[in-house]
Amino acid sequence: MFKVAVAGSGYIAQNHFAALKKIEDVEIVAVIGRNPDTCGKVAEEYGCKWVKTLKEAKEAGANVVDICLPTDLHEAWVVEAAGLGMHVICEKPITFTVESFDCMVAACEKAGVRFMVAQVARWWPEFITMKQYLDEGRLGSIHMIYEKRICQHPTWTTWHRDPKKSGGGLYDLNIHDIDYLYSIFGKPCSVYATGWKSPTGCWNHVCTSLIWESGVRAIVETSLEMTGNWPFSIEFRATGDKGTLNYALTAGLNINDGERGSNLNFYPAGQENIEAIQVEQTDMFEGELREFFDAVKEDREACVTFEQNRGVLQIIEATIKSLEENVVVKL
Ligand SMILES: NC(=O)c1ccc[n+]([C@@H]2O[C@H](COP(=O)([O-])OP(=O)(O)OC[C@H]3O[C@@H](n4cnc5c(N)ncnc54)[C@H](O)[C@@H]3O)[C@@H](O)[C@H]2O)c1
Repeated sequence: MFKVAVAGSGYIAQNHFAALKKIEDVEIVAVIGRNPDTCGKVAEEYGCKWVKTLKEAKEAGANVVDICLPTDLHEAWVVEAAGLGMHVICEKPITFTVESFDCMVAACEKAGVRFMVAQVARWWPEFITMKQYLDEGRLGSIHMIYEKRICQHPTWTTWHRDPKKSGGGLYDLNIHDIDYLYSIFGKPCSVYATGWKSPTGCWNHVCTSLIWESGVRAIVETSLEMTGNWPFSIEFRATGDKGTLNYALTAGLNINDGERGSNLNFYPAGQENIEAIQVEQTDMFEGELREFFDAVKEDREACVTFEQNRGVLQIIEATIKSLEENVVVKL
């Protein structure tokens, strides 16, 4: 039985609590936090203890911690949890540098605990379908991938505006698409980016161009600071010589607002028909959490590998160099 403590009771923690509740072999034993309103509320809703430290969570019986805290806290919390012998799943972006990530991995390996970064976009139903199309060669030889993830600035936090706490949109949002592409195509050979830095010093609107040695090319657009009432919008388009797969989601002001219709279409090359693809709307948080618990049970590395996590952080670091120096960065 996994006895889980969730660190944090904010926006993403709420999604994790709801998903954890659906998983057999999981008991939520504690919420770790210091906000009496939200911690008290989730403790009551999920029938768990409200504690203030990892040590207290361990004393409450937790053998797993699910870290849903602001990004700048991830490294210290992962290292401490490992030291207490707890398996760890931690929200993205895991941290800001490869060195910092390596400290977390070293602490987990030393303690003999399992560790996974929660890169949830891999369990987004339509993104799962795109991976299937790519893996099965149904799009043929790939010419171009386009991914877009643009939204208003989060209204529920202030820490996102501090680049030292969140890394800005480049770390907070762009990492979803970079991780997804890395998980399919591996390491690109070059990166070029152009973007806008917010007045508080965050790269909050960025367009990245990536090239792989295989010839695959991708453009990724990310914004964490759209103006006015811009709705949370996610798109992808994968074009190969056998066809194009296109997805477009326009949610409400928040990604969870509005209907999640599956607007996914396949345009086969040389044909006039458009195939509308219906995708079952599964819970992506449940998907990523199940993978983590399976990896712990099977004593294996999760499918979000450390090599991928390091590679993704290297791409983000290369993107910053490209943005700041207006150069193509070879990887
Ligand atoms: N996977 C996704 O799609 C997704 C979406 C949103 C956020 N996130 C990530 O999740 C993490 C949290 O983001 P959020 O939007 O939930 O933030 P949030 O501000 O809504 O929640 C953060 C929580 O951490 C608690 N906290 C802050 N400082 C603390 C401290 N020193 N000790 C103990 N608790 C503390 C707060 O009280 C709050 O409960 C970030 O890394 C973010 O990038 C991921």
